[in-house]
Amino acid sequence: MRRVVRCWRKLTLRPWRRDLPPKPGAGVALRRARLLAVEQAGRGHQGCGTGEGARKLRWQWAPKTRSKLRRWSKVEKLVNANDQDWLRLRDRVCVITGASSGIGRETAIQFATVGATVVAIDRDGNGCSQTTEEVRKLGGATLALECDVTDADSVSAAAGRALADFGRCDMLINNAGILQPGRLETLSLADWNTLLQINLTGYFLCSQAFGRDMLARGSGVLVHIASIAAGQPQGMSGAYSASKAGVAMLSRQLAFEWGPRGIRSNTISPGLIRTPLSESFYQAPGVKERREAIVPLRAIGRPLDIANVVVFLASFRAGYITGQDIVVDGGLSQTLMSYVPRPGYD
Ligand SMILES: NC(=O)c1ccc[n+]([C@@H]2O[C@H](COP(=O)([O-])OP(=O)(O)OC[C@H]3O[C@@H](n4cnc5c(N)ncnc54)[C@H](O)[C@@H]3O)[C@@H](O)[C@H]2O)c1
Repeated sequence: MRRVVRCWRKLTLRPWRRDLPPKPGAGVALRRARLLAVEQAGRGHQGCGTGEGARKLRWQWAPKTRSKLRRWSKVEKLVNANDQDWLRLRDRVCVITGASSGIGRETAIQFATVGATVVAIDRDGNGCSQTTEEVRKLGGATLALECDVTDADSVSAAAGRALADFGRCDMLINNAGILQPGRLETLSLADWNTLLQINLTGYFLCSQAFGRDMLARGSGVLVHIASIAAGQPQGMSGAYSASKAGVAMLSRQLAFEWGPRGIRSNTISPGLIRTPLSESFYQAPGVKERREAIVPLRAIGRPLDIANVVVFLASFRAGYITGQDIVVDGGLSQTLMSYVPRPGYD
């Protein structure tokens, strides 16, 4: 009970929450305090809950008798039964890069929908502010930060500001990316470097800058947006595919190195998603229909299809998943054998 009260105090006194609307009824606050207590015990944790901090707490608070164990599992059930915070993302601080547009903006909105605090980062400052406007309409605390993910100083300044305003970074969604056409035989070094700096180095810089706080607290989640292009070569996109393959390995490496310190890292590989990045393709007559025809689910993906998976992977519900890639492509990547002529089997 002392722990519940301590957590409750912590919740009510946290300085960065002072500007939020008044707290709901005491019952809700108590439930949140209990939730925090259970999470801190390492069993309902946002990340793996295996970091040093979580381990210490688990030792300190682990119930020693069966009856106590039963009592805690009842608390967990109580929390689960009330599924308003089913994902346990309420008041978690989520940083999203490339949040001005497409998948990043939709992800910001979905995190706000489940009560998370959203830090929207993009080199397009106006677009970022529009995203945070939408988040605010949903009642969420939010911050827009203009930042170029290829510039270490800019990223470090953004991380400093986010931590100053909200005190922590629970989740980082590495999403900022570009698509630039070019055949490998003629692609300039400058274009190659630009693409890799945004699509791969930017992910590394952000993981480092925001990961430091996660490492210090022994808990955190990284979700990186890769692409099915990471494993599928395609015309005019050699640099893009190479950058996304790099993202896939960066994520696995982070999962391996930071897993023992309580941090999970996973990638999502989208297929054909209609966003400003791919919009020019759909302007050509008949492309939408032709694309739909080759996807087993017969539909082009929406930013929401990716955002839903990001939110799940970032949540406590995916607490034992790390170092993995989730392909979200309507089945497109499963169609390779359909191109093989096989008389009698067509
Ligand atoms: N749209 C698709 O079909 C598709 C498919 C697979 C993977 N992806 C990946 O999903 C991610 C999001 O793509 P999207 O389709 O939403 O594209 P988008 O163009 O709508 O959004 C990308 C965002 O990244 C921002 N950005 C670019 N360079 C930046 C930089 N240096 N610093 C900060 N922000 C920067 C842009 O301003 C933009 O807001 C990208 O990594 C992309 O490679 C997209």
